[in-house]
Amino acid sequence: MTTHVQRGLQLGVNIDHVATVRQARYPGLLDSHTCEPSILEAAAACVRAGAVGITVHLRADRRHIQDADVYQLREKEGVRLNLEMGNTPEILAIALRVLPAEVCLVPESREEITTEGGLAVAGHERALGETVSRLRGAGVRVSMFIEPDLKQIEASAAVGADMVELHTGAFANAQGAARERELERLTKAADFSQKAGLQVNAGHGINYENIGLIRGVPHLCDLNIGHSIVSRALFVGLEAAVREMLGLMAGA
Ligand code: PXP
Repeated sequence: MTTHVQRGLQLGVNIDHVATVRQARYPGLLDSHTCEPSILEAAAACVRAGAVGITVHLRADRRHIQDADVYQLREKEGVRLNLEMGNTPEILAIALRVLPAEVCLVPESREEITTEGGLAVAGHERALGETVSRLRGAGVRVSMFIEPDLKQIEASAAVGADMVELHTGAFANAQGAARERELERLTKAADFSQKAGLQVNAGHGINYENIGLIRGVPHLCDLNIGHSIVSRALFVGLEAAVREMLGLMAGA
């Protein structure tokens, strides 16, 4: 079992929706260098503002991020790339060519608007274990995007993952007492994950309002935040939006 040194809370910005804006004008685009808004410039702005990671989800339907984006981000200096992906042979082959710093395995269906629910690791240990071992064998750190559920955490440790990303969507959608319960679930799951030797990350639905509660969850390392930051960037610019979020993460 590996133990992870607590580094304090760090930010990975999910820039999928920068590509969403680009694809709205240039559907079928393959070369991301020539069309705005530039994914590479967006990544650079996030890093300048203090984000440690850049996260993108290469979906089977290529609705936002394209293959060329992933290759170009991998080459970009100063970018620690976290590739979100479904466990399919096609995307795994790309990941093994690109070799991002990190991969986060997520469930994926074509009909969903965004990732719905966490990955069912329990019950799928064999297929997921094989993918984890191929990626880790190539030097890629692997995370499992899971519900804050003890069974899924145990299974993530069993398949050899380095990290879990706790799905914060149920918390983000809940109100009042239900929100308190979701926060408690996240806290228990974070404790359990840390004891299992897993790095604890979190993401989905985190925004400028609920970050005040999320930052109190113990053992958190990386928060992956996308929609709220890209939305805020429309009004204040991407660097300022990232800086504001980092300030709130630090408790300002
Ligand atoms: N983490 C994972 C695994 C995701 O699938 C997503 C959404 O793509 C995010 C984080 C970011 O979620 P949001 O856009 O709601 O901040």
